Amino acid sequence: MNELNGLCGRVPKKAVFIVMAAGIVLLLVYHISSSTPGSFYDSDSMTSSQEEQRFPQAIIIGVKKGGTRALISMLDSHPQVESARGEVHFFDRNENFRKGLRWYVQQMPFTAPNEIAIEKSPSYFITPYVPDRLHSMSPSTKVILIVRDPIERTISDYIQLFNPDRIGQQKSFNDVVLDGPNHINDRAQVIRIHIVNGDALISNPAQEMIRVQNYLGVSDFFTEDMFYYNKTKGFYCWHKVTDKGDVHPNCLGSSKGHQHP
Ligand code: A3P
Repeated sequence: MNELNGLCGRVPKKAVFIVMAAGIVLLLVYHISSSTPGSFYDSDSMTSSQEEQRFPQAIIIGVKKGGTRALISMLDSHPQVESARGEVHFFDRNENFRKGLRWYVQQMPFTAPNEIAIEKSPSYFITPYVPDRLHSMSPSTKVILIVRDPIERTISDYIQLFNPDRIGQQKSFNDVVLDGPNHINDRAQVIRIHIVNGDALISNPAQEMIRVQNYLGVSDFFTEDMFYYNKTKGFYCWHKVTDKGDVHPNCLGSSKGHQHP
């Protein structure tokens, strides 16, 4: 204090006051800007330090073999959508659910405030307690269900699960599908759901993706031009823009997209 008094004695009091006032103003400006993310978010100056892992704003709950991988991969091309890696199985697998909300959020991609995190776990649709768990944790999460001609879907499931090349033995379609257990979740207590036509996603992906984009409330991105039919694959592929701005052709891997008998 004596030192300060001594200093004040040598420097004019008015100058000390101006320096202190400027310091307070600077501190206030810093506090306001760091506590209102919207000011950065609106100004297009988003920095990676503002990216966080959050509860997903949208979840694809199924159905298995409906085209869930195609849907989430196409969505992931949208600059405002980031998808979780793999299938998270938080709400349907008790061993994951017990790990808690924090674990679930840690499985999510980092997103900026103007972006959407999304995950897909097709067994959510057939697991009875999933709707209650999801609804009680986040009633506002948008839910997407992709459906497909049930016969095509069943053939698709059969080809994937009982492919003799994979399991080493032939199992007839009748044994594993027609006489096997059937599951469906009739407790879909979700309040916001968008149904994607999985057959239309195969024949006209742009049209279905524009509908999904509108439901999610993200910017207009999908166009007819970005999808192209790949004759070798027998399915549509699409142009994907990388973080660096390069454009790459993108098809699903060999485990998706079979010619059905
Ligand atoms: P098949 O592999 O039997 O043809 P899921 O990802 O839910 O398991 O669904 C897989 C199905 O998605 C595939 O079944 C395929 O028919 C369908 N699909 C839809 N769009 C596709 C695309 N662009 N490329 C590959 N498969 C696609």
